Amino acid sequence: MKQSYFRCITLLVCLAIAVLLSSCGASGQKAGGPKKIRIGFAMDALKQERWQKDRDLFLKRAEELGAEVSLQTADGSDEAQMKQVESLLSQGIDVLVIVPHNAEVAGAMVDMAKKQNVPVISYDRLVKNSAPDLYVSFDNERVGELEAKLLLDRAPTGNYVLIGGAPTDNNSLLLRKGQENILQPAIDRGDIKIVANQWAKEWLAEDALNHVENALTQNNNNITAVVTSNDGTAGGAIQALAKQGLAGKVLVSGQDAELAALQRILAGTQTMTVYKPISKLAPAAVEAAIALAKGEKLNITRSVNNGRIDVPSILIEPIPIDKNNVDVVINDGFQKREDVYRNAPPKSP
Ligand code: BGC
Repeated sequence: MKQSYFRCITLLVCLAIAVLLSSCGASGQKAGGPKKIRIGFAMDALKQERWQKDRDLFLKRAEELGAEVSLQTADGSDEAQMKQVESLLSQGIDVLVIVPHNAEVAGAMVDMAKKQNVPVISYDRLVKNSAPDLYVSFDNERVGELEAKLLLDRAPTGNYVLIGGAPTDNNSLLLRKGQENILQPAIDRGDIKIVANQWAKEWLAEDALNHVENALTQNNNNITAVVTSNDGTAGGAIQALAKQGLAGKVLVSGQDAELAALQRILAGTQTMTVYKPISKLAPAAVEAAIALAKGEKLNITRSVNNGRIDVPSILIEPIPIDKNNVDVVINDGFQKREDVYRNAPPKSP
């Protein structure tokens, strides 16, 4: 009796050990399991508010899909970006996603990755003269059209100032092209006159401020509209206008739906911005990165030429925002209502 009791206990203990070992084995397999995809994300800078959203939404989607991200930020330096891409490649990433600081210089970084058979996605900004596998962005020419159109609708005649973004960023050129698509017929008719045409180097607000200050001086303050390419530079332009008591009297455009820009729109000093839903851009890039890393074929119908190839492209539609529809940005969860309306003047009845 006693013997069989012990036999039974021994059997149970053995069984328990066997179950434990097999479950250990299973989890061990899981931990080492199918190799996690490693995405190298080489960003330019995080200075503008939007890039922090890009980073956060990118990391979130990657985590949801079980991919690992090695993130690098070059703080506006080509040299740093090159070193960071080299380092990412030496870490053995499966795919590179790059926001180039300089469209031309970054071509060498794409070449380097491709030589090592690492697929590349050009994120938001197109890398020129190289062969990235994909370009994921917004329709930037359309952004430029939306900026110019809203101002031209409000002021069909007068003196216009153009302030482009960093000339080293391909987006600046696309934005300018879009702006010209809209403004050229009005210029040809003699309805509007371009009295200054400048670029804000490195997208600097201070540079935009200086350009607008000079334009005001040269034209005895007779300026109708400033077509500025993003919200940061719009802020600089508005500062220059404010010094002359002209903030709110001269039309100003922008893009990015930055908090400060939405507040200026409600205060009446900025005319419009363009909202680009990064909540669509970042996940689209992560999903495509994973597919490319797995060697899957992407089903892309659009393309944009970058000087060397037609780069397959995903281009998301931008949305124009003025004081009548700021809620679009809030309802999308991009900005918080209490922040946007914090200092807003009460609505007129
Ligand atoms: C982006 C804009 C941004 C600008 C400055 C451009 O390439 O498309 O959204 O404001 O860079 O960072």
